[in-house]
Amino acid sequence: MKSVRAAFRLEEMVVPHLRQVEGYVPVEPPEALAAALGLSLESLVKVDANENPYGPSPKALEALARYQRYHIYPDPFQRRVRQALASYTGFGPEWLLAGAGSDELIDLLARLFVGPGDRVIDLAPTFGMYSVVARVCGGEVVEVARDDEFQVSLESVARSLDSRVKVIFLTNPNNPSGTLTPMETVKGLIETECLVVVDEAYFEFCDMTCAGLLREHRNLVVLRTCSKWMGLAGLRLGYGIMDPALVQRLMAIKNPYNVNAAAEVALVASLEDTDVLQSRVAAIVRERERLHQGLKGLPGVRVWPSWANFVLCRFPPGEAVRMKETLARLGIIVRYFDRPRLRDCLRFSVGRPEDNDRLLEALRKLL
Ligand SMILES: Cc1ncc(COP(=O)(O)O)c(C=O)c1O
Repeated sequence: MKSVRAAFRLEEMVVPHLRQVEGYVPVEPPEALAAALGLSLESLVKVDANENPYGPSPKALEALARYQRYHIYPDPFQRRVRQALASYTGFGPEWLLAGAGSDELIDLLARLFVGPGDRVIDLAPTFGMYSVVARVCGGEVVEVARDDEFQVSLESVARSLDSRVKVIFLTNPNNPSGTLTPMETVKGLIETECLVVVDEAYFEFCDMTCAGLLREHRNLVVLRTCSKWMGLAGLRLGYGIMDPALVQRLMAIKNPYNVNAAAEVALVASLEDTDVLQSRVAAIVRERERLHQGLKGLPGVRVWPSWANFVLCRFPPGEAVRMKETLARLGIIVRYFDRPRLRDCLRFSVGRPEDNDRLLEALRKLL
């Protein structure tokens, strides 16, 4: 057939705004880390990704093993998932949409609202996905810096506002600082009439939510995840609560079978096992406070109070990378962010008591 161009040149074929996108920096799987470190998988203390150290609920594991219909496509309208979430959240199914992790919902929201020339406000430092998806959609990321306590200043946001700003992402409690944004500030953001996406991935560890504002404010979306408190990170399940008209819009652009059958089965069973899951959340919250106290007692270390299942620490200048590498050699995997204001920090997910003991002991020796 006749060629329509001189030669296929990949770089020229890629749409201009995607030629140099910086992707999200994810964590490595533990198997790869164990192999690289020459350690056994069982000996690793993996506290780098805010996963649940207790795993899925027993009922979820039983239901997954019992289920026989993995060869059938899941429900594109997520009926059972949305019904189960309706009982849990108190919002009708028409207010709910599930995704392959809340990451997928962040992506879908950006695809629906952000195009070339549009702006997205990122309350930095924060979770890295918002800026990635905004740029993938051709949008421009406006970083509004949090203050030294990682709090959001409405005055700073106001200075960055113009008619091109369409979406404001707020993680609450924030990742990686663990700090909480007061409800008055959330309300201030909603008053901008931009789409305000409040990512409550860590809601169950703080019990604070702005979901009560959803019925009066159509420009608010609340995101949650089953990765953290439910221990289902590997199954990829998150959900959003939002105006039913917005649910319909997102439903129309999502992949038809975005929530897989295993995630559906595990969710329904997990929500029948909330006593077990909540007691694990309580254990993590207790351990968070113990970890916080232990870290606070280390020389030269600054710790921020956390409302999530992790704790952020700042070490003396230049020490954080060395610490991360030394801890890794000891089989303790922690999270480091090569980003402004975080280069002297490490984030530790709250593990089981024995994991936290190992971490604290190692840090005491190193410092
Ligand atoms: C604030 C925040 N939002 C979303 C996610 C992604 O969650 P999911 O596993 O549901 O995609 C994370 C994961 O660490 C997170 O910290």
